[in-house]
Amino acid sequence: MSDHNSNSEDMKRILAGLQDVDYQDKTVLVTGGSGFLGSWMCETLLNKGAHVICLDNYASGRPENTDHLLDHPCFTRIEHDISKPFDPERKLDLVCHLASRAGPLEFEHYPIQILKSNTLGTMHALGIAKKYNARLLFTSTSEIYGEAEVFPTPETYRGNVNTLGIRGCYDEAKRAGEAYCMAYHRQHGLDVRIVRIFNTYGPRMRSDGHYGRVIPRFIDQAMQNQPITIFGDGTQTRSFCYVTDQITGLLRLAGLPGLAGEVVNIGNPVEWTILELAKKIIQLVHSSSTLSYGPLQQDDPMRRLPNIDKARKVLGFEPQVGLDEGLPRMTEEFLI
Ligand SMILES: NC(=O)c1ccc[n+]([C@@H]2O[C@H](COP(=O)([O-])OP(=O)(O)OC[C@H]3O[C@@H](n4cnc5c(N)ncnc54)[C@H](O)[C@@H]3O)[C@@H](O)[C@H]2O)c1
Repeated sequence: MSDHNSNSEDMKRILAGLQDVDYQDKTVLVTGGSGFLGSWMCETLLNKGAHVICLDNYASGRPENTDHLLDHPCFTRIEHDISKPFDPERKLDLVCHLASRAGPLEFEHYPIQILKSNTLGTMHALGIAKKYNARLLFTSTSEIYGEAEVFPTPETYRGNVNTLGIRGCYDEAKRAGEAYCMAYHRQHGLDVRIVRIFNTYGPRMRSDGHYGRVIPRFIDQAMQNQPITIFGDGTQTRSFCYVTDQITGLLRLAGLPGLAGEVVNIGNPVEWTILELAKKIIQLVHSSSTLSYGPLQQDDPMRRLPNIDKARKVLGFEPQVGLDEGLPRMTEEFLI
């Protein structure tokens, strides 16, 4: 594997899941391409023989995530805010629209940016796809289900969201983004695919407190032997998908034929309490951290569990990496 792969074991695993999906010589625009998922997506697409245009404004992503791709002959990186119009002036086959801040603490500090990236940004991404007759993948979220009442939650569940709450900027913006996609699909016949991503973790995820993603935050606190901060009593659950499984699912959904207008949950359907997660991480890094409890964040859902029957059926998707394997792979990055 070439120097353009930062973690070849993980990359081999993704590529093994994409053997029957063809990206050779396709040109792909990845918005949010220097973020956590976007950078894995760019790297994978280059390995599949695609030409990749990575667009990012570095709101929450980092140039370092894609610096190792800069001298790849098929990689172009552009700094731009997708809430403002953009024209790549190049024939495209696929637009993957990932650009959006996504950390729970960012909902509080950057609600307008989040709304713009998923409404105006999605409209601009769809306009680009329409102009170049390209397919579009929109990264929606399990958060569109809000405080779900059906578990495991299938795509047919319509959601229970508080429009006025602190998470409303994210949940409702993603819901609007989905509606934009379906409007372009119905009115212009655009081949759009919507993925509802459930909590995903792995190398390149930011741990800085500001972003508030639970796994990197816990690992960071445990490694520094600081108290691990749990919101609520820790009995709320999440299901955690390792990045290699998520990227395999995303690029199967974006690349397989016959899926225009489909929406698919992608995640790992094994449920963990936040308390179990914290204890697992303390044990893994041999930490002396204690647990400290704070108030539950407003509208933070008590359960998150995907029904992935549709992903299994239409994508042949099956998560390969459980928490016991994925967590150590992620902590390796913190030791470098
Ligand atoms: N990681 C998860 O668990 C998860 C779960 C559900 C949904 N998602 C969705 O997947 C996508 C990627 O998430 P991630 O985890 O990689 O987050 P991330 O914050 O690491 O990546 C998002 C990227 O988008 C860029 N960005 C934000 N606003 C932009 C704008 N207006 N113009 C251009 N670039 C912009 C950021 O700088 C960053 O590089 C997001 O749309 C997110 O909502 C992720």
